[in-house]
Amino acid sequence: MEYTTLSNGVKMPMLGYGVYQIAPEDCERCVLDAIKAGNRLIDTAQYYENEEAVGSAIKKSGIPREDFFIVTKVWLSNDGYKKAKNSIEESLAKLGTSYVDLLLIHKPVGDYYGTYRAMEEAYKEGKARAIGVSSFNTKLLKKLYDFAEIKPMVNQVQTHVFFQQKELHELMDELDIRHMAWAPFAEGERGFFTNPVLTEIGKKYNKSVAQVALRFMLQSDIIPIPKSTHIERMEQNFDIFDFKLDDSDMKEIATLDTGKSIFGPEFGPHLGKLMFFLWKIFKKGL
Ligand SMILES: NC(=O)c1ccc[n+]([C@@H]2O[C@H](COP(=O)([O-])OP(=O)(O)OC[C@H]3O[C@@H](n4cnc5c(N)ncnc54)[C@H](OP(=O)(O)O)[C@@H]3O)[C@@H](O)[C@H]2O)c1
Repeated sequence: MEYTTLSNGVKMPMLGYGVYQIAPEDCERCVLDAIKAGNRLIDTAQYYENEEAVGSAIKKSGIPREDFFIVTKVWLSNDGYKKAKNSIEESLAKLGTSYVDLLLIHKPVGDYYGTYRAMEEAYKEGKARAIGVSSFNTKLLKKLYDFAEIKPMVNQVQTHVFFQQKELHELMDELDIRHMAWAPFAEGERGFFTNPVLTEIGKKYNKSVAQVALRFMLQSDIIPIPKSTHIERMEQNFDIFDFKLDDSDMKEIATLDTGKSIFGPEFGPHLGKLMFFLWKIFKKGL
């Protein structure tokens, strides 16, 4: 495993395993398989409703807690100081741990400044070894950075070969904020796994499209957290430390960038909240 060092000195693995859209009843098995494949960074969230399963897999693995790097995120219905504070306690209880390694604001929606204050407190109390944000664009990240007493250490954003987030990455470098990639395979959209450029480069190294894409991220100083429910894919996604893309590969992959999100626009603080309530009403109606 390769590691990066966060601005507060905490060591974080350069590759993790994400559990979005894994049903709670499958999640424990998946996380145990991911651990067997070598993963120690596990990325969950209050919203995924599988924090308990992640916690129980970690316990069942028999591997010491301190060998893991657990990431969770405060969901937008828990925005604001008080709700966020309570929700952090709930997350810790569900995960069966007294601290998480990284705590993020899931989306810049609602009173996320209040959420951040609660996270700073959790950090000072030793309940989070590092704190940060997710899906913050350059403008929102700069504003939060200026507001923060404890500067965010990570921004987890949609990043894949079709949306490489170069401008945001430059800003994060300046601010000493690590770049974590959600949807590193673009969730398989846009013919990701049959992309001709990635396929051809893979042939040179006897590696799959997935492995080439993950390697591209490592070499771009980006931490990917791919999700899979299949052990053989988890093993494949972890097997990326024995080859190196050359400069021409890196340049060719850089040309795949469209500079645009493939999942539609990210909503700002107010519109995001409205969208969330509409979604809740829609879900209740189903
Ligand atoms: N902060 C945020 O707002 C946010 C948003 C989205 C995601 N995330 C995090 O980022 C993680 C990863 O993103 P994601 O789950 O959205 O999508 P992803 O990792 O880009 O793609 C997952 C898809 O790729 C398939 N896959 C995985 N490995 C493969 C391989 N080697 N070969 C072929 N297919 C493969 C999976 O299928 P199988 O499962 O069937 O193998 C699944 O359909 C999430 O799990 C979550 O932890 C965060």
